Amino acid sequence: MAYSKSLTLVLGATGQVGKRVVPYLQADDGVEVVLGTRFPEKLSDPGVRKVLLDLDRPETLAPALAGVERVFMMTGYSVDMLRQSKDFLNAARRAGVRHVVHLGACGDDDTRIDHYAWHQFVERYIEWCGFSFTHLRPEIFMQNLLGYGGETFVNRGVIRHFVGDARLSWVDCDDVAAAAAACVARSDEHAGRTYRLGYEAKSFREVADTFSEVLGQPFAYEARPPAEFLERVIAAGAEPAYMRCVYQSYALLTAGADIGADAVFDNLPAITGRRPRTIADFARANAGSFRY
Ligand SMILES: NC(=O)c1ccc[n+]([C@@H]2O[C@H](COP(=O)([O-])OP(=O)(O)OC[C@H]3O[C@@H](n4cnc5c(N)ncnc54)[C@H](OP(=O)(O)O)[C@@H]3O)[C@@H](O)[C@H]2O)c1
Repeated sequence: MAYSKSLTLVLGATGQVGKRVVPYLQADDGVEVVLGTRFPEKLSDPGVRKVLLDLDRPETLAPALAGVERVFMMTGYSVDMLRQSKDFLNAARRAGVRHVVHLGACGDDDTRIDHYAWHQFVERYIEWCGFSFTHLRPEIFMQNLLGYGGETFVNRGVIRHFVGDARLSWVDCDDVAAAAAACVARSDEHAGRTYRLGYEAKSFREVADTFSEVLGQPFAYEARPPAEFLERVIAAGAEPAYMRCVYQSYALLTAGADIGADAVFDNLPAITGRRPRTIADFARANAGSFRY
């Protein structure tokens, strides 16, 4: 047989979360990793096993899934995620995949934010397919502060954003990745669980204060109208249907609506054995990107 039983396929292995999942899994003796990407030729590390996987090209799915037992599944910032997820899960079922760890989004089950709800439909489809599963629902990525949807938000001490004074629950992508890897590697322990991942509630004004303190330079928050976000990310080439949902959530937050965006959780030590990274940790680790 060409593959070991514990072969794990990582989707989005070149993205912010997936690329951080890979080293955690490679460090685990029980897991053999294969990276799924549309551009395998760009992954030059010869020690890494990679495979062509394009969620928009169904013919690539069965070959990419051959022999795979576990999957870290993610999709990009696009409404295409709905069709892509269904195609992928159907192929994974046919291939005999056992456990799926899914990167979803924020919110509790009653959420009315559109793209969070899309992710929850994907979760339900994963369950309907009969996989053993772990659903991850991260809150806002700290890495968004480095840029998001083709937009940058921190420039020479000014943090420009579009949620008014709302407090958001933050998580570092590395903590999301560590949790994902733990759920893949110890899939039996984490089967059937939904983990919301968000550990520190801060408004952008409070983020600016933390940046000032940690980086030793003044940072200030400038609240901008949510419509400006939509205009700018679409001009930068982001997918409009998904970004309209993000815009709607920003508009609600700017208006002061309580959409549960500040919910924090205490599950990371139990999942990964380490404490969550803070905004101060993130500022320190990325000082070179923020200092001016
Ligand atoms: N940003 C946030 O605050 C936040 C919060 C909660 C949840 N999320 C969720 O996180 C997810 C995005 O994660 P991320 O930030 O890690 O994404 P990302 O950095 O934008 O990476 C996207 C990845 O998807 C892959 N990809 C794109 N189109 C593909 C296709 N057609 N077939 C196969 N692979 C494809 C890309 O791989 P290749 O280019 O190598 O093919 C890339 O590795 C979204 O589902 C979002 O809802 C984000």
